[in-house]
Amino acid sequence: MIIGIIAAMSEELALLLEDMDVTSKEDKAKMTFHKGNLWGKEVIAVVCGVGKVNAAVCAQILASEYKVDKVINVGVAGGIGKDIYPGDVVIANNLVEHDMDTTAFGDPHGQIPRLDTFDFKCDEELVTLAEEACNETSDIKSFKGRIVTGDQFVASIDKIQWLSSEFEAFACEMEGGSIAHTCYLNNIPFVVIRSISDNANNGAHMDFEKFTPIGVRNSTTILEKMLKKM
Ligand code: ADE
Repeated sequence: MIIGIIAAMSEELALLLEDMDVTSKEDKAKMTFHKGNLWGKEVIAVVCGVGKVNAAVCAQILASEYKVDKVINVGVAGGIGKDIYPGDVVIANNLVEHDMDTTAFGDPHGQIPRLDTFDFKCDEELVTLAEEACNETSDIKSFKGRIVTGDQFVASIDKIQWLSSEFEAFACEMEGGSIAHTCYLNNIPFVVIRSISDNANNGAHMDFEKFTPIGVRNSTTILEKMLKKM
């Protein structure tokens, strides 16, 4: 079994790479695919870059060229809701691309026209493993719910309120929904695990700088516990 691990930014993969026994590296589409062993599992770990196009290209390469059996996306996200704080972890049970808009044709926001699903559901086994990993760590608070994705760093209260009322989302980020979409098209089980770096409000860009390190630490901790259970 080969597991593809995707992070958007190098700092989101850095801790994991410290622990990984990298046996080879290959560059494709301006991304470096690290092949090797991580916490007892065969993995391909890669930084895809920010946004939906980078994420989809990366996930498709993992599917077509590396024939991965599962995909896990880790990293940070903006938290949605008053009870969610930097450092908390959100395990996605499904994802939606919040910036897809064909409402002019009567579709709901987020619906990809002519696709047979509204949301992209994460693999139940991977979600359960992630939940179990969270339950093992009393110092990390975790949530399970929808994560929404768009080519936008969300930094406004109006936008968070809209994401909350329209999608009942727990977190927003810029890659997960696109990775989920690509895995859906390729029939690959996936899960997205994100730790909160900011609350997607007016000060989000400053919180993002401050809390990304703790977010990365927490999402990597959950990933480690999860891989060791697989
Ligand atoms: N990733 C981390 N914080 C985010 C935010 N506020 N919006 C989009 N992606 C994010």
